[in-house]
Amino acid sequence: MRLQHNLALLSALLIGGLMTWDVQGDQVQIQTTAEDFFQPGTQPVPENFQVFTESWNCAQCHNFTDDDNPSAITSPSINWSASMMAQSARDPVWQAAVVIANQDAAGSGEYCIRCHAPKGWGAGHSTDGNLDALWDPDDMDGITCSFCHRLVDPIASPDNPAQDADILQALIDAGTYPDPAHPGNGRFIFDPIDDRRGPLDDVGINMHGGSLVVYSPHHSESSVCASCHDLGNPVFSWNESTESWELNPLDEAHPTQNTYHMFPEQRTYSEWLNSEFANDGVAFPDGRFGGDGHPDGVMRSCQDCHMPKTYGANCSFWYLPDIGTRDDIDIHSFAGGNTWVIGAVHDLWDPTWTGLTDEMVEMSMQRTADLLAAASDMDVSQDGDALDVRVTNWSGHKLPTGMPEGRRMWLNVQFLDADGALVEEHGDYNWITASLDTSSTTVWEAKLGVSETMSALTGVDAGESFHLVLCDEILKDNRIPPVGFTNAAFEAIHAEPVGETYADGQHWSDTTFEVPVNAAEAVVTLYFQTTTREMMEFLRDENVTDDRGQIAWDAYVARGMSPPVVMDATTLDLTPVAVEGDVNGDGVVDVNDILEMLGQWGPCPSGCSGDLNSDGLVNVDDLLALLSYFG
Ligand code: HEC
Ligand code: HEC
Ligand code: HEC
Ligand code: HEC
Ligand code: HEC
Repeated sequence: MRLQHNLALLSALLIGGLMTWDVQGDQVQIQTTAEDFFQPGTQPVPENFQVFTESWNCAQCHNFTDDDNPSAITSPSINWSASMMAQSARDPVWQAAVVIANQDAAGSGEYCIRCHAPKGWGAGHSTDGNLDALWDPDDMDGITCSFCHRLVDPIASPDNPAQDADILQALIDAGTYPDPAHPGNGRFIFDPIDDRRGPLDDVGINMHGGSLVVYSPHHSESSVCASCHDLGNPVFSWNESTESWELNPLDEAHPTQNTYHMFPEQRTYSEWLNSEFANDGVAFPDGRFGGDGHPDGVMRSCQDCHMPKTYGANCSFWYLPDIGTRDDIDIHSFAGGNTWVIGAVHDLWDPTWTGLTDEMVEMSMQRTADLLAAASDMDVSQDGDALDVRVTNWSGHKLPTGMPEGRRMWLNVQFLDADGALVEEHGDYNWITASLDTSSTTVWEAKLGVSETMSALTGVDAGESFHLVLCDEILKDNRIPPVGFTNAAFEAIHAEPVGETYADGQHWSDTTFEVPVNAAEAVVTLYFQTTTREMMEFLRDENVTDDRGQIAWDAYVARGMSPPVVMDATTLDLTPVAVEGDVNGDGVVDVNDILEMLGQWGPCPSGCSGDLNSDGLVNVDDLLALLSYFG
């Protein structure tokens, strides 16, 4: 029956023009084309396109350490270089994943390049997802200064630059205007002219030669991050009646172009959009996320948390009277959940082009660790023989969010006896082999999978999978929702919890552990890990094209196999758990308990330790119960 079904599907695809091609062993590559991955927005090399100016050019003025707030490091160039967005095209894990994507679905790597190397993509350098077609070093700067500072608001507004009306109209005329109600998927609009758009409306002196300084309110809104921080796979459509994701006809663009009808890979922007942060914001009286300069401590936008506010300079000419320092600048730190890949980029690439020093890697890793520590609170309490642990999400989206493959968070609980010896452990992590005991604790993560249907088509094993472009099922998503979560809103964007329930408004997760008898202390730690060993092994072993999987693996090993970082940790002194049958209260059940019980023999209406069944009598029933606890 299943075979027939699969054969019918396969032949339907063959009739539809699908050719097969052996990737490795029995795997068959899906013959996708650029059409399958089509997205609206500015297309490569628009009319009157001026090249994106290199980031090293910006560094001539935007790289400095000598202003009157040197400890904060306000230089946009230094901070940007130390962020993953500057290194997104050099990222060895990403490169290894693109090779797999190309193996799985022809040319799909071009879609990856769109977001991870938008400068090279926009300039028309990349074709068919070929990483080697990108210009090195120019395109490898990933999301460059010039690229972000040419982004145009897709929503027309009288506050926006006057030239935007023509830019939007040109897209409408070409049929590639991206509907802002369906964000993400690299549907950005960039200005064909090399101007410098930014949040300042009072720049005293333009030092950018022929480029204009253009005031852009859009740059202070979360929507400037939307085009890349929501990601759906457009080769699949949601089928409402079967409640499943189905492969679209090949060589055709997605039929609705509604990003929420595409297989959800990342929903960070939409998670935020459906949280309290996008409405009234959330106040953090403890100064969390605020840097030292946020105006009111109420966090709303992506920038509020990911570009913390401080005072200082934007440019090395800050000492000139027309420039000066400012008390409200945004640090380009873009810290997130990536604890080790910045170090791998530093190790693999020429520092002339990465701009990375050991100190900058250190700074970046520290910022990430600090952000992760601020992301959650953990409350631990004892209730009889139960240890209750609550983890509360304070980030602006799910915790964790973003990349679902490999990111995870878990509780490690160590019960110690009065001498400090380990009695029992939950969520044991082996630091040598990078293996986690997932069976004895809560692991918060999303797991994608390949359905039987896709498995039959491609020869890839069904079930849990890292074949990103082939995945068409969400097998698990217990990541903790943000403040303001509702089930209805998250279902509407296909970001609902899977295999776990959260009530409306619940932005925390509870786990209960049983306290063992001899435990005197519980040491509870919440860990975050950026990349699992399982994912890195997959990238290494499935690659039949080049050595990028091996390069990524070696870099991962050299950087300590993505060491878990501590988000929260606490130690709780425990009230000893009563031992059943321990009549004399010495912690063991033995013959002395029988003697104690015999001493209490008879009626005992006011309660005796020997009245094990609480019937007001110490008698033979209690003795039998006691014997059953012996040993
Ligand atoms: C819509 C934009 C977009 C597209 C298209 C896209 N990505 Fe990404 N990708 C992102 C963002 C944003 C992140 C960062 C998320 C995070 O850090 O959690 C990311 C992160 C990643 C990472 C994690 C890197 C690391 O160092 O841990 C990998 C791997 C990756 N992407 C692979 C791919 C592949 C392969 C494709 C193409 C099939 C692709 N991406 C297409 C936006 C995109
Ligand atoms: C010759 C020096 C110089 C170079 C090179 C330079 N800038 Fe600037 N830039 C400045 C100065 C000065 C300011 C104003 C700073 C201030 O007022 O705080 C500025 C301001 C900006 C602003 C803020 C604009 C606004 O309205 O908010 C942006 C964005 C910007 N630069 C981007 C860039 C980018 C991108 C590059 C490289 C492509 C670059 N700059 C190269 C000197 C320079
Ligand atoms: C209230 C503060 C806050 C707001 C608002 C916020 N974030 Fe975050 N973000 C965090 C924290 C804390 C983390 C680290 C925990 C994690 O990885 O989820 C994080 C992590 C991330 C990551 C990395 C995830 C990973 O584990 O790889 C990305 C990407 C990200 N945020 C993007 C965004 C975008 C885009 C927005 C706006 C749409 C946004 N954030 C809004 C606090 C915030
Ligand atoms: C991911 C997109 C992105 C990249 C890459 C980026 N910027 Fe920005 N930049 C922004 C945003 C967004 C703001 C405004 C933040 C706000 O107002 O909340 C900004 C603000 C600025 C400002 C004004 C400073 C201020 O007071 O806010 C300058 C100057 C600037 N950027 C220069 C640069 C330079 C130089 C680079 C490269 C070294 C760069 N940017 C890379 C997004 C980006
Ligand atoms: C042109 C696409 C693009 C835009 C626009 C963009 N991002 Fe990203 N962002 C990425 C990609 C791609 C990555 C993943 C890089 C990697 O890990 O290789 C990323 C990663 C991140 C991370 C995770 C970094 C880490 O170390 O884990 C944060 C945080 C982030 N971006 C915040 C923002 C914010 C805030 C904005 C808006 C001001 C923004 N991004 C705009 C593409 C983009």
